[in-house]
Amino acid sequence: MSFQISINKTKQSRINEFNPDKIEFGKLFTDHMVVCDYKDGKWGNPEIIPFGNIEIPPGLSALHYGQSIFEGLKVFKSNNNDVAVFRAEQNAKRFNKSAHRMAMPDFPEELFVECVHTLVDLDRNWISSAEGASLYIRPFMFATDWTLGIKVSDTYKFMVYGCPAGVYYSHPVKVYIDRYHVRSVRGGVGAAKCAGNYAASLYPAKVAKERGFDQNLWIDAVELKYLEETGTSNVFLRRGKKIYTPALSDSILAGITRDSVIHLLKDMGYEVIEGRISIDDLINWHKEGSLDEMFVTGTAVSVANIQLVGIDNEIYKLDMTQELVAEKVKTELNNIRTLKSPDKYGWVKVVEPKLTAKS
Ligand code: COI
Repeated sequence: MSFQISINKTKQSRINEFNPDKIEFGKLFTDHMVVCDYKDGKWGNPEIIPFGNIEIPPGLSALHYGQSIFEGLKVFKSNNNDVAVFRAEQNAKRFNKSAHRMAMPDFPEELFVECVHTLVDLDRNWISSAEGASLYIRPFMFATDWTLGIKVSDTYKFMVYGCPAGVYYSHPVKVYIDRYHVRSVRGGVGAAKCAGNYAASLYPAKVAKERGFDQNLWIDAVELKYLEETGTSNVFLRRGKKIYTPALSDSILAGITRDSVIHLLKDMGYEVIEGRISIDDLINWHKEGSLDEMFVTGTAVSVANIQLVGIDNEIYKLDMTQELVAEKVKTELNNIRTLKSPDKYGWVKVVEPKLTAKS
């Protein structure tokens, strides 16, 4: 089936509110957004309209029963003012995996990418080519039936909007391993990018923040001892030329940055081991001095070093003074995303200026 994206351009651009030198993640949104409705068993044609509020009924089933999924991807501007979308096809695939787990309809993958490209073309002036800057794109879908009976919704809304993004963490990250709370369970929805995963993490994350940490480093819910992810990122531990990361499972989100970083690390000559890493492994490697570095990877976060891990009442500090592999891999990733390095992996798609001139 072929779809037609209609465009209703804003009459009042807010671009003068955008200060590339002062970007706060998720505070300012670009001029347009994509909206597409699902009913009678099929998707309608997507519309691009001026960014703004949407009207929802109090009985909206997503609000009550949580059928709601999202994605996050980034778009970069090169020194030539070319606009490059990073691995959107992978986001489209993961979106549909999440949709499947949440009993929601698939969104056509090619249309997902086309919606992103069209929005990005229209709002390309909102992307800064400054170091570390990007446009963060948020596609999402939620159930729109108005019902109080708990059931799979028959209607859905798919939307996409974008916000300028800078560096997510301005300092190396402090993570806390909470031995009691878990983010997701075996057979649960941890591998889906659904709203509920984030809601469930907020209380333990609030407690961790009150104790001075940036994030929880979640552990598995079965044996309560294996490292999983942080909720906004996947985690890596380096011992010399060996780099360990938790193997994917149904309780870990398959990070696209994680996958990209694994490819880059292997090409840089590191051995990447995807497996089980216990809290005791972390403590023992730290005690014997073989834990050289820890870092996290995610779309919003990019690649960020961990400076310390809190476990029980102990703090395990990482040596931040040596040459950090996370820095090297982040630079290489950024060079590919901003078209400074050749993209031998085919990760980057340049959006041709059809709707808005290059600037
Ligand atoms: C992303 O990196 O895209 C995420 O979903 C993290 C978000 C909670 C900021």
